[in-house]
Amino acid sequence: MRYEYKLLASDDKPSQGGGNRRTNGNGNGRGGVTSGLKLSFLCLIISVVLLLFVFGFVSDNASPYLARLASKLGYSKVQYAAIIDAGSTGSRVLAYKFNRSFIDNKLVLYEELFRERKPGLSSFADNPADGAHSIKLLLDEARAFIPKEHWSSTPLVLKATAGLRLLPQSKAENLLNAVRDLFAKSEFSVDIDAVEIMDGTDEGIFSWFTVNFLLGRLSKTNQAAALDLGGGSTQVTFSPTDPEQVPVYDKYMHEVVTSSKKINVFTHSYLGLGLMAARHAVFTKGYSAEDTVVESVCVNPIIANRTWTYGNVKYQVSGKENAKSSAEQPVVDFDSCLELVKSKVMPLVKPKPFTLKQHAVAAFSYYFERAIESGLVDPTAGGETTVEAYRKKAQEICAIPNDEQPFMCFDLTFISVLLREGFGLNDNKKIKLYKKIDGHEISWALGCAYNVLTSDEKFNNS
Ligand SMILES: *[C@@H]1O[C@H](CO)[C@@H](O)[C@H](O)[C@H]1NC(C)=O
Ligand SMILES: *[C@@H]1O[C@H](CO)[C@@H](O)[C@H](O)[C@H]1NC(C)=O
Repeated sequence: MRYEYKLLASDDKPSQGGGNRRTNGNGNGRGGVTSGLKLSFLCLIISVVLLLFVFGFVSDNASPYLARLASKLGYSKVQYAAIIDAGSTGSRVLAYKFNRSFIDNKLVLYEELFRERKPGLSSFADNPADGAHSIKLLLDEARAFIPKEHWSSTPLVLKATAGLRLLPQSKAENLLNAVRDLFAKSEFSVDIDAVEIMDGTDEGIFSWFTVNFLLGRLSKTNQAAALDLGGGSTQVTFSPTDPEQVPVYDKYMHEVVTSSKKINVFTHSYLGLGLMAARHAVFTKGYSAEDTVVESVCVNPIIANRTWTYGNVKYQVSGKENAKSSAEQPVVDFDSCLELVKSKVMPLVKPKPFTLKQHAVAAFSYYFERAIESGLVDPTAGGETTVEAYRKKAQEICAIPNDEQPFMCFDLTFISVLLREGFGLNDNKKIKLYKKIDGHEISWALGCAYNVLTSDEKFNNS
């Protein structure tokens, strides 16, 4: 069941620095050399074009030739794409500005807009009109970023992830229909499948692409594995060194076509192993589906009836008293919590990504956020941590009665179980944490934009 992804980019990595960024031409290292000659060539071209015009020779046949010449002189047109990520905890708009070279159609990314609104689309399950309004506010941001004359040539898509996947189908469909109505009136280029629930496979492949593209590793031999932790699901995506050796990977392998080569990529979205879905599974352990007042061994006993919303249901979560805890020293019984988390996580890790440990690991989303919020890594230095460091931090936090981060003990315990017991990473395995690379958000949206712009003829041949 292999599916081919066309993501025609090589390592045309945006250059360092903030704001408007420039790269050298088409990333082939020929920028700058010809700048002196450009002006005189330009004059020549203009004269030729004028002459052809005068003699009526400019036809459709002649234009590709002229386009080639023009592009050799650094000429390219601007191409935009607007992607809305309807995630389980928030909606985001990512609008990209590319230069499309006339010569080889290659896209060079140079500007990006990122805006987020909370809560996510799925929390408007009973009120699709308000849900669509939350998306309209993001669309307005894209309108302000993209000049009006480009709207009709700019693809606009909304892809929803685990939040909507977990809703009853009719509620999800009502929300998507409300967004479809909004998009139909938008003046952007909206395809028939522009608004949909995204497949977990697309999500994994597109984020893997984004990470490796921004790291400049697409044309290298060993791409980084991409680990994405969302609210409802978690994605593991990497290019196994020797996929034939691991038959269980077979169903999960896909071919990614970049402009420099084809890469075989494993990806799987583990539904239910998102951070919020895992909290829900652990907090409600031993309760019936209607119970909303719950006590958990993974929450400190000082926490009493803390409101926590999941899937539009409000829960009152309290910590459970335990033998290790006392009034003077309230603690979570770390070992009990750890065992419970393992029992909830392990059955869902199928297939197990055995050979993930062979690859450099780049992690983002909640892996990054929880590492920052718990002080595991420094927000300015950013950085690198290890599987063991997540476990140690979890143990440390579970022993502190922290009223402000009542679920941090659980969150870190879960992350460490996922990485160590779930994905089979060793204690000393380095985890590189990212939110942005060179000023660009790590998101599946960039890969999605490349996919739309390079596989849809409409954008490719204009
Ligand atoms: C995009 O194209 C414009 C005009 O052709 C040029 O000034 C700009 O430097 C290009 N940017 C990149 C990143 O190639
Ligand atoms: C939480 O509230 C319920 C009633 O709504 C009460 O029975 C229970 O004792 C409370 N739990 C704690 C830990 O205060």
